[in-house]
Amino acid sequence: MRVMRLWLGVTWIYAGWHKASDPGFLTSGSTTFIGTQLSAFALNSPIGFAINKMLEHSTQIGIFVMLTEFAIGAATLLWIAPTWAAFGGFVMSLGLWLSSTWQVQPYFLASDSAYTILWLSYFLFLYGSRRKSNVSVDRRSFFRISSVAAIAVAGAGLGKLFPTGAPATTPSAGVDAQLKSIKIVKDASLKVGDTKTFVSKAGTPAVLFRTKAGVFAYSAVCTHEGCTVQFNSASKNLQCACHGAVFDPFDGAKVVTGPTNQPLAKIKVAIEGSWIVEA
Ligand code: FES
Repeated sequence: MRVMRLWLGVTWIYAGWHKASDPGFLTSGSTTFIGTQLSAFALNSPIGFAINKMLEHSTQIGIFVMLTEFAIGAATLLWIAPTWAAFGGFVMSLGLWLSSTWQVQPYFLASDSAYTILWLSYFLFLYGSRRKSNVSVDRRSFFRISSVAAIAVAGAGLGKLFPTGAPATTPSAGVDAQLKSIKIVKDASLKVGDTKTFVSKAGTPAVLFRTKAGVFAYSAVCTHEGCTVQFNSASKNLQCACHGAVFDPFDGAKVVTGPTNQPLAKIKVAIEGSWIVEA
């Protein structure tokens, strides 16, 4: 039990720190932005419908997840409301398994599947052994629970003071750039004026265009909160239903209407043989 408690507590604090020190996590348009991540998760998750509903509040969800990870980790290590913390860890792991790592096959290669069972076992042991949390309204309990909240906020604040680098804004940056080009659609089947939605190498939704000038593509992840933009063939622009942002795909996906001021990320595409590919 001590080994589990130590491992889970430290890991959850590290997970919170990882997000807090990532300058792109709460920066819309970044590849590690929570909205961009949620947008990619929604494509293959059995709870994709719920994730899509959350997208318009992705920044708040990102802050909540980061603070909750710190709080669960600290409460587990310090033995403050441990049963509640264990239940929170189980729910969070289950949510991550159903979203972030659901497409990892076979399932045992997804670390979230193992964490879900680990937290569940830990929770059931605490619950079954009646070593329940000390949640009550006395002053001491109030102070102990407040200290967990303070640790969570302090951890998130400290992470911002030690950023791990500048936010990445190109969807095919880093590891993804090393992947081979992927086929999107047969060249012959996309006529001038047509569009085609596809999943980019980064795992995010994207949209491909063909004009007389050639082919080009953009990430369909809105640079405001990460909702998926749709092409409106009548107005010839990309529109976001969440808060009304509009982008012009025929002018570098620049913003026509806010609330964001960042254009959509460009995705490199090319014609290779009889296919249009993401390079
Ligand atoms: S997510 Fe807010 S306008 Fe697109």
